[in-house]
Order: sequence, then C-alpha cells, then structure tokens
Amino acid sequence: MDSRYQIENDAEVFSPALVFYKDLIRHNLETALKIAGKAERMRPHVKTHKTREIVAMELEAGVTKHKCATIAEAEMLADCGAPDVLLAYPMVGPNCGRLARLVKAFPQCRFSVIADHPKPLETLSQAMIAEQQEIDVLIDVDVGQKRTGIAPGAEAESLYERIAKLPGVRPGGFHVYDGHNHQESRAERERAVAQQLEPVLQMRANLERKGLPVPRMVLGGTPTFPIYAKMDLPGLECSPGTCFLHDNGYGTRFPDVEGFVPAALLLTRVVSRPAPNRLTLDLGYKAIASDPPAGKRCLLPDLPDAKQILQNEEHLVIETDQAERFAPGDSLFAVPTHICPTCALHRFAYVVENGKVIDRWEIAARDRVLRVA
Ligand SMILES: Cc1ncc(COP(=O)(O)O)c(C=O)c1O
Repeated sequence: MDSRYQIENDAEVFSPALVFYKDLIRHNLETALKIAGKAERMRPHVKTHKTREIVAMELEAGVTKHKCATIAEAEMLADCGAPDVLLAYPMVGPNCGRLARLVKAFPQCRFSVIADHPKPLETLSQAMIAEQQEIDVLIDVDVGQKRTGIAPGAEAESLYERIAKLPGVRPGGFHVYDGHNHQESRAERERAVAQQLEPVLQMRANLERKGLPVPRMVLGGTPTFPIYAKMDLPGLECSPGTCFLHDNGYGTRFPDVEGFVPAALLLTRVVSRPAPNRLTLDLGYKAIASDPPAGKRCLLPDLPDAKQILQNEEHLVIETDQAERFAPGDSLFAVPTHICPTCALHRFAYVVENGKVIDRWEIAARDRVLRVA
C-alpha cells in the first residue's frame, strides 16, 4: 500500500471505517482550483462528502459557490457560512415550503434552485411569497441524460420567461449537468460536450436578446470538468463533486482527468478465514456503496488478485492465493469504486494527517433533516 495511506495509530480505528486523508483532500482541492483557473469558476458539489469540515477547507481556499442535492446539504452549507448555495434538485410538493423556510432562516446566504416544469415552479413561487422571500431559479437544461431537465428550445425559453414574470423567483441562469457523458475517450467526451452546448448557447443568445439575463451556467461533473474548465463563457461555473475525494471508479475510467488521488478509503479487517484461499472482511454493503456491480465494489491495493465472490450486509468474502498471509484481525485498505454513497453509509470519517488519525468528522448531511423542516 502506498505509504501516503498508512496509519501509525490504526489500532484506534474501529472497523469498518471511512478514513479521510486531509492532506490528499487539500491536494485534490488545489488540483481542482488549478484546473478551473480561478475559484470563482468553481461550484463544487457537496454531495460527495456531506461534511462541514471539507466545506470549511473549500471556503478557506477561496471557493464561494457551492452546489448540493438535498435541502439538508443546503442547510449544512449555509450553516458553515457558504455565501452562495445552489440546490440542484427539482423542488416539488411540501419541499417548496421547506426551501422557503431555509431561505428565510439564512438571510446571509444567497440560495438558488433548479426547475424544469411550470407547475412546481408556481408552487415554489407561492411558497416563497408566503415566507416573503425570493430565490434565483436556474432552468435545468437536459442535454441528453434524460434524468431531469428540459431540452434547450422554445419550451425551455418560455419556462425561463415564466420565471422572470412570477413573483418570489428570479431568472438565475442555466443548470447543465451531463452525467451521461462518460465516454472513456477524452476526444469523444470533448466532441459530445461541444455538440450539446450549441443549442444551449443559442437559447442563451435568444433570451438575452429578449432582455432576460443569464447570469450563470453551471456545468458538468468530474469527467467533463477539465473540458468546461478550458472554456471562456460568461458566468461559467464548473460543478464536479467526486474529484475532491475521488474514487477507484472514476480513477480507472477517466485517467485523463489528471491530478486527483483517492482521498477517502475504507479500513477493513479480516474477521474470518473460512477456507485456505478465502478471507472474510468486515466490508459488507452497509459499509461500502453497492451501486457498482457485485465483485467490483472496491480495489484492495494489497491484494490486487483478490476476487470478491460474495458480499452481504456486513461481510465481503474474497478469494486470493495469498490468503495464508492474513489472519483474523489483520487490516486492509479498500479504495471504494463509488465514494459518494459510501460516505453516506458512515456517521463519521476518521481523519488522518501526517500518517496519524487526528480527528473524526461527522458526515453531517447524511441525515435528511437537520433543523429546518
Ligand atoms: C446534478 C449533478 N451535478 C454535479 C454532479 C457531480 O458529478 P461528479 O460526481 O461526476 O463529480 C452530480 C453527480 O451526481 C450531479 O448529479
């Protein structure tokens, strides 16, 4: 195992444990800022870590704009003193009123939100008026993922015009997330980004001609981050999330997104050796994300040949020719394939700096409700 990940006092760590490496998080943050050119071109997504202390590191590094996916994450950000928070999730039903109460509770924070349909937009407008608040609304532009959003064109333009007319909401620009752009070839990813942006920029020009401002365009995640970061577009904001902790999934699939290193690992221990070539680890799918396919949920750098043959809630059974090197109680590091849901499985992360556990950070926004309800 790479010496940067060794922990001198690992006897103090209960397994299975989420471990954050503070120096490596700082390194990833600096790398992102270098790629973006300026902190003002960044709007990091907080969903990956959901952690106050990492928000504080981002603020210290000059990042003022943040993105999040839940009202609890938005509250955590505002409570950390983040001055500009985009909730990049469609608000529907009673969530509209809850967001309005959040906006009222943190007057020093400028909140924004996304919308892709006139009906919940009306609900949001009414909820904002009821609390005497106003919020920027970005249209969620669907550039091909077909998860949420509205395709660029006349209908999207009229939604933007509607935002400008309704009370309690202001036109805040475009949200353009392209989670489908996972082409492994950088050239293909670049081509897809250029193609998808054309109608978006056309729509922007149309709206601006009508006198409607498009103050910001919030673009992409980690795989397309270096591509957007090279562009010179007014109001451009890059919104990667994963790269701040990074993981083995992105590291393997997108090696062209250079400079990021895994900054969050799992410490697991052998709990049993049920057969000569088998080890059972305390790394079930309640400790590591199970959205990657079975057998591919982590990399074990000390046992690269290990086959993950069975995973239950609290067990990971591996087969390896090197099993005899290990006895119950021995520890191993695992690099998660997908760090974002992995973080949300842990109440706190052990924090390592200079090879020692120095702290524990709460994964504060793993809860759905903090104070504002
Ligand atoms: C809307 C939105 N923006 C940004 C991101 C961050 O993307 P990534 O995880 O590739 O950094 C995500 C990830 O799921 C997302 O859903």
